[in-house]
Amino acid sequence: MYFLLKSPRRRYFIFFLSAILLLAVIDRLYFSAIPVVRPLDGDSTGRGGTERSQQHSNDHPEAVPHPIDGLIDHAQQEWDQLLSKQVRHLADATAEYRRRRGRHPPPGFDQWFTFAQQKDAVMVEDLFDQIYDDLSPYWGLDPKEMRRQASTWEPRIILRNNSQTSVGRPDIGWLEVWMDLISTIEEFLPDMDIPLNAMDESRIIIPWESLSEYRDKDRAHRQMIEPSNAVDQYMALSAVDEQHSPEPWTPVFEGANRPFWEIMRGACPPESPGRTSNIPHMDFANPPPEFFNYRNFSKTGYVEDFERSKDPCWRAELQALHGSFIEPTSTSTAHELFPLFGGSKLTVNNEILIPPAVYWTDNPQYSGGWNNKGGPWADKSDTVFWRGIASGGRNRADTWTGYQRHRLVSMLNGTEVATTKGSSSPGVNFRQPDYQYYNVWAGLDGRLPEFLNEHCDLGFLDLCCFPLEDGTHCSYTDAHFKLVNPMAMKEQYAYKYLPDVDGNSFSGRYRAFLLSTSLPIKATVYKEWHDSRLIPWAHFVPMDSLYMDIYGILQYFMGYKGRNRHDQQAERIAMNGKHWAEKVLRKEDMQIYVYRLLLEYARLCDDRRDSLAFVGDLQTK
Ligand SMILES: *[C@@H]1O[C@H](CO)[C@@H](O)[C@H](O)[C@H]1NC(C)=O
Ligand SMILES: *[C@@H]1O[C@H](CO)[C@@H](O)[C@H](O)[C@H]1NC(C)=O
Ligand SMILES: *[C@@H]1O[C@H](CO)[C@@H](O)[C@H](O)[C@H]1NC(C)=O
Repeated sequence: MYFLLKSPRRRYFIFFLSAILLLAVIDRLYFSAIPVVRPLDGDSTGRGGTERSQQHSNDHPEAVPHPIDGLIDHAQQEWDQLLSKQVRHLADATAEYRRRRGRHPPPGFDQWFTFAQQKDAVMVEDLFDQIYDDLSPYWGLDPKEMRRQASTWEPRIILRNNSQTSVGRPDIGWLEVWMDLISTIEEFLPDMDIPLNAMDESRIIIPWESLSEYRDKDRAHRQMIEPSNAVDQYMALSAVDEQHSPEPWTPVFEGANRPFWEIMRGACPPESPGRTSNIPHMDFANPPPEFFNYRNFSKTGYVEDFERSKDPCWRAELQALHGSFIEPTSTSTAHELFPLFGGSKLTVNNEILIPPAVYWTDNPQYSGGWNNKGGPWADKSDTVFWRGIASGGRNRADTWTGYQRHRLVSMLNGTEVATTKGSSSPGVNFRQPDYQYYNVWAGLDGRLPEFLNEHCDLGFLDLCCFPLEDGTHCSYTDAHFKLVNPMAMKEQYAYKYLPDVDGNSFSGRYRAFLLSTSLPIKATVYKEWHDSRLIPWAHFVPMDSLYMDIYGILQYFMGYKGRNRHDQQAERIAMNGKHWAEKVLRKEDMQIYVYRLLLEYARLCDDRRDSLAFVGDLQTK
């Protein structure tokens, strides 16, 4: 299923030995010596698999593996390990469930398992971890209260007697899309009400202290009941519906009258910098120490723990460097827990994730047409390509320099980078990484602008000025960006490297990028349903949202002056990501995921949640 690299290591070992000796002698000439002493590296056919980049230190001129080599190897092992956990029989699936979840599976699990098998799903329990992370706090709520909240929220999908209706907001197209998804599995689902988030932005942020209490309750409730005490019928809600009409659930929503970070910080652990520090604005010439936090999540300078790197509680600098925290286009946040389903959330949010509607529809704006996945790697150009609008929140004259999309476009615009005086000098809306730390050879040579102009093609389709100015201009950013022509997604697959960053919330094109033959370079602070299915550095290239690692990443894959390319690694991740997405991010996988999620959710909403269990496999023994 994936390609193994067979490397002619020995040749390179001898070459490296001579390189080391030579470097030891001429260490002062180190940088300029690289092209001379590394003649074999100039291999543009992509035999990059055996290359080892060198630490750029005059004191220790020794050959060491590039940190990204290690991250890729590690990710590969993690993936192998995941695959080794595949199960093929119900008894193994239930055993895995009980081991990992500490409970019996919900009633209907056997039917779900058959459904998943008929659809050729990769059956690994870990792929469903996100469900349990999302649902855990709800064990702290009373089921009756959950039903009240769910049954009076709008918009919602109502499931009764295996058929669905909906209430509220017929104007929002994606409600129909989600109903379409659920219609494909409704025959298997118990009665329930499914409240949906009608906004792009995520909505629920409960205080860290309450969340901890709720999660404690989950742990305390976790038990393997005696099979003889198990109940296998969910409540029928039609009887309940008739008895009384519950008092509507009207949580208090906080709007944008306070800075979003103020609204959010209570969700952070008391000792975390997100809770305690205040960085409303970032002075790039003299950044606060928090700015350098990114290295705490990446000892090597590259993302090692993608999930943790998204967490604003430990990334206080994000309050000044990501639009979602600077000024979201709309804010409406509740601080109480109630069931709400949505397509994405921040790590501080408490929504229940389902696949975003754009992943289920065939809207070519996001999918590129699912059948267009791009041609062979070798036919693609060695270019970083991005088109998009300057969204990410409401960018204004005095805040735009913190927005992530502006930062991406500027940092990869050679002309813009040329306005700085190198590594230690800030740009108007970015800082550059330490060239030495990241071994940015183009930077050390003073040729970074040329390198970027040669390899990058990024640009805005709309500057999203606030307040709005005439359609094509934005007085405060005009000097730094020009509008470029749009390009259909399928055309974008002519390029090897496709960065993907957050807009007003998650980026809807990500699934298509994963399914394509190009390589997604992903930076995000959002969580999605598929997070426990994708392994960074195995299926995509993770990037920090500050992008301090971006030049290092590009140079690792593209090389410099035709040397030290790791084109084959790039191709391998692109193809592994594609093949894996074709196994675990199919529409079938969304059905299987939502089916499983809704069984769990129905159990949580049931008065007998502690006794509802599938134990059929235990009783027949
Ligand atoms: C569902 O079925 C029950 C029992 O068969 C019936 O009483 C109820 O009216 C039905 N409800 C709906 C919404 O069709
Ligand atoms: C990050 O690391 C630096 C030192 O490397 C330390 O001073 C700082 O407190 C760390 N920040 C966090 C949020 O852990
Ligand atoms: C690149 O930067 C230069 C200098 O700031 C700017 O004039 C140009 O419009 C930028 N290009 C794009 C595509 O935004």
